[in-house]
Amino acid sequence: MKRLLGGGGARLRLALLLRHWLLGASACPCQQPALCKPISTQWDFEVFVFDVGGKTWKFYDWTQITTVATFGQYDPELLCYAHSKGSRVVLNGNIAVKEILKPAVRTAWIKQKTSLAKKQYMDGINIDIEQTVKKFSAEYYALTSLIKETTEAFHKEIPGSQVTFDVPWSPQHSDRCYNYTGIADSCDFLFVMSYDEQSPVWSNCIAGANAPYKQTLAGYDHYLHMGINPKKLVMGVPWYGYDYTCPGLRKIHVCFFAKKVFQEAPCNHAKISQVPYRNIMKWERSSISGILWDEDQKAPYLEYKDSQGVFHQVWFDNPKSISLKAAYAKMHGLRGIGMWNANCLDYSANSTARQQTEAMWEALKGA
Ligand SMILES: *[C@@H]1O[C@H](CO)[C@@H](O)[C@H](O)[C@H]1NC(C)=O
Ligand SMILES: *[C@@H]1O[C@H](CO)[C@@H](O)[C@H](O)[C@H]1NC(C)=O
Repeated sequence: MKRLLGGGGARLRLALLLRHWLLGASACPCQQPALCKPISTQWDFEVFVFDVGGKTWKFYDWTQITTVATFGQYDPELLCYAHSKGSRVVLNGNIAVKEILKPAVRTAWIKQKTSLAKKQYMDGINIDIEQTVKKFSAEYYALTSLIKETTEAFHKEIPGSQVTFDVPWSPQHSDRCYNYTGIADSCDFLFVMSYDEQSPVWSNCIAGANAPYKQTLAGYDHYLHMGINPKKLVMGVPWYGYDYTCPGLRKIHVCFFAKKVFQEAPCNHAKISQVPYRNIMKWERSSISGILWDEDQKAPYLEYKDSQGVFHQVWFDNPKSISLKAAYAKMHGLRGIGMWNANCLDYSANSTARQQTEAMWEALKGA
């Protein structure tokens, strides 16, 4: 169970007020000033949640959450609530890799981020630099330095704070040739984005799972074989799927989306869109297939006909596919699990939706 932080007395309130005057920090937005203290708890198993804004966080499963990475606007109410549950709230950080070659630019960026985090009483930063880097280029070295320097600065400025870095599902199937071992050593852990795993160069233009089971696990094998400690890896699962338009959907459930029939490439990317889990669940009843299961990819999918009578196939993750991956994360001693993103579920009062949403949170615990 998760520990609640103790309440603050008048003395602490005074001390914080004094700190506020001295440092020019903004006033603590929480009713209990103690809730503005950084979280320094080291959890055995991280549940790392991306939040993109709004107020749905009120309905998250806070018995599990250890960190919320805020990609929406700063929400002091979320900060105070998360801290009352012992959960960290971290900034998101991104900078163009061509900018970070000069040490002075990195230093200024880091200073700005640590100041912002302190001002907002936050507990670290998640660095999301999804940019192409060539192996042994100037950017390659500068990126490792950026992560190392950011981690050192945060740990010094905000004791107990957390610095994490987002990496693709596999270090091998990507144009991001980073020094992964160096970066893993330099920060608290990596968030592995185990999704969007279909190759950008489509080989056959056939719809498939966002994060097929075997392929997902192969990504972790690659990271582990590089010598990265499993305790430096948090598994990221998708709470969204892909909707493919496939006019000629065949009876055998093969959704072909090439630009022209009888032509292998190029595939028609305009016919693919991302959809959150809550939308997919609304299609279940009107689908022509119900929810199907692909045993090879260990992923669910469904098929529907849109208002123009065109067939679609939708690939996604559900409690069944996620709990299989979560079981792997537990069994292989990974640092934790997380998702992109927590807002994708239906948090309305609808009782069916509520059950589906609870089941998604439960699935993070593994089968
Ligand atoms: C990766 O980074 C580490 C830490 O900075 C360094 O010791 C190592 O030599 C780098 N490895 C490569 C292949 O660049
Ligand atoms: C409740 O949610 C389910 C699943 O998303 C949906 O199929 C159903 O239509 C919803 N019911 C109402 C009354 O909105």
